[in-house]
Amino acid sequence: MIIAVLGAGKIGEAVARGLAESDDVSRVIITKRNISTLENLKHVKKIEISSDNKKAAQKADIIVVAVKAGDGKHVLQEIADQVSDKIVISLMAAISIKSIQNILPHSKIVRAMPNIAATIGEAITAFSPSEKLTKEDLEKVQFVFGTFGDSIEVPETLMDAVTALSGSGPAYIAVMIEAMVSAGLKVGMPRDTAFKLATKTLTGTANLLSAKGMHPAELRDSVTTPAGTTIAGLYELEKGSFRTSIMNAVEAATLAAQKVAQKFES
Ligand SMILES: NC(=O)c1ccc[n+]([C@@H]2O[C@H](COP(=O)([O-])OP(=O)(O)OC[C@H]3O[C@@H](n4cnc5c(N)ncnc54)[C@H](OP(=O)(O)O)[C@@H]3O)[C@@H](O)[C@H]2O)c1
Repeated sequence: MIIAVLGAGKIGEAVARGLAESDDVSRVIITKRNISTLENLKHVKKIEISSDNKKAAQKADIIVVAVKAGDGKHVLQEIADQVSDKIVISLMAAISIKSIQNILPHSKIVRAMPNIAATIGEAITAFSPSEKLTKEDLEKVQFVFGTFGDSIEVPETLMDAVTALSGSGPAYIAVMIEAMVSAGLKVGMPRDTAFKLATKTLTGTANLLSAKGMHPAELRDSVTTPAGTTIAGLYELEKGSFRTSIMNAVEAATLAAQKVAQKFES
């Protein structure tokens, strides 16, 4: 299988590297206008670098669009006559299946939102397929996402919320880890010790909740003892409106995604 990744930026490169590692992918063609910045990809096995979106789309069985929404219309128009009956996966935030289908009426469109953890094969990709995809097409799409993490199908109406929660999520988590490292420094810990403790606490907790299918409140209760250290910390988090801040952040990002979509439509 040959896959074209149009837009060799942060997410495009991560996706291309994941795909190139799969035995079932014979070639990944990755494009960018300014390919001089792709020196680091030149020697990666099976990756071919190009600045020709049209040719890349023509050669590929599946096309992944990983440019910014502002560049999306142009790129879609460029490839329009090369992608009939092919699967086109758009990773662009906020751009609806309908908008893409208007430009690519004969393609099988999938709207998807991975996150930057794709860089280490740990992304979660939420996706919505258009009605044109067959069961076999869906298997291929899930295979693509599987090369850089896990995936979950969602209704398209949730995609702006997905962008806000798990697409932007790594930034929120990074801020939390940064804050925990600062907190460690404040109470006298070396920076690298605080970093290791904070990152491992986060991944360990997430893995535990996920492995046991446990409600977060159950875990919180199980480690919170009367008049203990944890309740003293939790009290301060509640005073600082920790949960409200996170809910507000995701809501604000959802609204921002909707604004990008309106701009694209107009
Ligand atoms: N970063 C994330 O965590 C993340 C997660 C999920 C989804 N996304 C989505 O993925 C898309 C890309 O995000 P990003 O963060 O990877 O952005 P980015 O780092 O800015 O990458 C976009 C790339 O597209 C290339 N490009 C622009 N116009 C092009 C064209 N006509 N033909 C070929 N390549 C072109 C740019 O390079 P040149 O200027 O050299 O062409 C640039 O390298 C966005 O729509 C975003 O919403 C991003």
